[in-house]
Amino acid sequence: MTSSHSPASASASAPSSAPATTPPTAAPLTGRDVVIVGGGSGIGLEVARRAVAAGARVVLGGRNEDKLAAAAQSLGDRAGWAAVDTTDKESLARFFDGVDRIDHLFTPAASYRVGPMLELSDSDAESPFVSKFWGQYHAVKYAAPKLTQNASVVLMSGAASVRPPAAAPAYVACNAAIEGLGRGLAVELAPVRVNVVSPGTVDGNLWAQRPAAVREASFAQYGRDSLLHRPGTEGEIADAVLFLFTNTFMTGSVLYPDGGYALR
Ligand SMILES: NC(=O)c1ccc[n+]([C@@H]2O[C@H](COP(=O)([O-])OP(=O)(O)OC[C@H]3O[C@@H](n4cnc5c(N)ncnc54)[C@H](OP(=O)(O)O)[C@@H]3O)[C@@H](O)[C@H]2O)c1
Repeated sequence: MTSSHSPASASASAPSSAPATTPPTAAPLTGRDVVIVGGGSGIGLEVARRAVAAGARVVLGGRNEDKLAAAAQSLGDRAGWAAVDTTDKESLARFFDGVDRIDHLFTPAASYRVGPMLELSDSDAESPFVSKFWGQYHAVKYAAPKLTQNASVVLMSGAASVRPPAAAPAYVACNAAIEGLGRGLAVELAPVRVNVVSPGTVDGNLWAQRPAAVREASFAQYGRDSLLHRPGTEGEIADAVLFLFTNTFMTGSVLYPDGGYALR
């Protein structure tokens, strides 16, 4: 005699043994206030698009006012913007003074140089820490008084943290430090949730600014180095950020949307 657990084998007259439905584990974004520091382009803007589509209000931050105004206009009347430079603490204080409350914070803002220790100037070598690490650290610090009780924060890292693509030791270390920062802030700010997204190479705005030959060579290399043989899209990274915004049990984690780059 054989037994089967397939639904088709259940007797029509037997009482239902289906488990009771559990409550949803994702907090909806409807009516929530989202702040994206570095939201005027790229992954940040893609997160903003998804958040607005899901019913949130969004404030975009960045340095270029024209870019922010155009980005906010493209999102409709639930989006606003204000200028901020994350390397300037007075600018961060002004920016967050102008924000009433924050349910979700994402901080992809950064600009830096990457390269070998023996080739970069000291200030270029330090630039990832100045802009990407301390920029996000201070953004969260100045945002903290406005975070609601059940808020969530997503920091931006990069999969170079676990697999250096080339000689760029300060950039690699900076991303590893950001992943540690996420764990540290998750402990300090609980019950506010803090997580980190650490993407592989993304075919989007950042790489579109670089020379075509450099971009094409990097994408081809990434294709060889990753399991899915292509760079990601800004939308794929944004989906990971929205998951971290809304899954109410995620904190202190690092997500690697990288097409399997870290495994090869
Ligand atoms: N794209 C990739 O392949 C990839 C992969 C892994 C990780 N990342 C990380 O993702 C982040 C960049 O996001 P992205 O790829 O979407 O590029 P992006 O389009 O260049 O977005 C970065 C945004 O941050 C803003 N910004 C830069 N420096 C700032 C500062 N000091 N203060 C405030 N805003 C600032 C920029 O606008 P303004 O210039 O107007 O300020 C821009 O809108 C970086 O942290 C990068 O390391 C990217």
